[in-house]
Amino acid sequence: MRILVVGSGGREHALCWKIAQSPLCDELYCAPGNAGIARVAECIAIKPDAIEKLGDFAEEQEIDLTVVGPERPLIYGIVDHFRSRGLTIYGPTASAARLEGSKAFTNELLHRAGVPGKRFKVFTDPAKAQAYIQREGAPIVVKADGEAAGKGVTVAENVEDAFDAVDRCMVEKAYGVAGERVVVEEYLQGEECSIKVFCDGETIVPMVPSQDYKRVYDGDEGPNTGGMGCYSPVPAVSPELLEEILSDIIYPTVEQMDEDGTPFSGTLYAGIILTEDGPRLLEYNCRFGDPETQVVLPRLESDLVELLLATAEGRLNEVEAKWSDDVAVCVVCASGGYPGSYESGKEITGLKEAQVDERVVVFHAGTRRMGRRCFTDGGRVLGVSALGSDFSDARDRAYSAVAKINFEDMYFRTDIAERAVGR
Ligand code: GLY
Repeated sequence: MRILVVGSGGREHALCWKIAQSPLCDELYCAPGNAGIARVAECIAIKPDAIEKLGDFAEEQEIDLTVVGPERPLIYGIVDHFRSRGLTIYGPTASAARLEGSKAFTNELLHRAGVPGKRFKVFTDPAKAQAYIQREGAPIVVKADGEAAGKGVTVAENVEDAFDAVDRCMVEKAYGVAGERVVVEEYLQGEECSIKVFCDGETIVPMVPSQDYKRVYDGDEGPNTGGMGCYSPVPAVSPELLEEILSDIIYPTVEQMDEDGTPFSGTLYAGIILTEDGPRLLEYNCRFGDPETQVVLPRLESDLVELLLATAEGRLNEVEAKWSDDVAVCVVCASGGYPGSYESGKEITGLKEAQVDERVVVFHAGTRRMGRRCFTDGGRVLGVSALGSDFSDARDRAYSAVAKINFEDMYFRTDIAERAVGR
């Protein structure tokens, strides 16, 4: 098979790394890819948002399966476009991707599906949003309704911060049209975890649970990032609890989407909060997580291509996913200053030495190759993933590998998976 992966981050490197291991894969392309991806796939200089160009490429190169990493092309209809051209593609249509693209859509759908959700209200008028916040009090969550590159969510500790978040969306228009509508939601307290499933519209095949670290500094301090590390499994999610999450949250959502004539196909990613009253949905994403993919796929023993193809072709009931009992830990190495301003173009050394341990894989996120040398090219630069027999083993391997890597101003959290050790 000829396969195209769309995207350029650590998630896409993990996808390419696993796809390249499949006996079904003859040729692998990635648009646009990065320096690490270039070792397993041919990188094509087309941006993920250039939907028509990607369709032209897939047609010309007779691509059998396209796999989309980031949410934006999905929300903008890459799947609808490819399907209209008779091309096979993994991911949800634009209508189904509203589960990530519109917080208001998701909250309303969950309400109809009877999924235990959060108290919420949708506003187009900042004064009304602020009056509601005043009545509800803090902590409270303010979200730009649309897709804002992961930046439109504020967990406000006090009413003033919530007011500021409303102003940022609706008055300063910091997120453009994504902030024209604002969703104000109840704040849920508890441990967070990600549950992802392959879904073909009807059948679901769960992936192993994972947990990521969104704050930039140790101890969950500092601003939110795209993710500074993660681990899998999640000790707090027992098989029984996973079953409860699937039956009370994910299945009813999938059934409601199907009933509404917008079946969801692709990776459905549920951000779950384990509250005192049971698991509650924090948000849906319509794609693989980043960096969660970098711990989930190393634990997959089955052929990923088989799973992706069966999902895209609506025959997921024919395949199953086998997962290893190993523990996986991923530590993200970022450019100093991220998620604020940072410099790129720093030479990265030690990549080969870091992977001497065969249980370690270094996934590239923001990197660029010049000749034989590799340079930083983004905020999140690398995701160093390690498998181990337990959390302590996997952490030791990941951090030993990180210690061999160097670039100017490299920054990483030192407490990834610490809380899972011994649990
Ligand atoms: N790690 C969070 C995300 O992929 O959205």
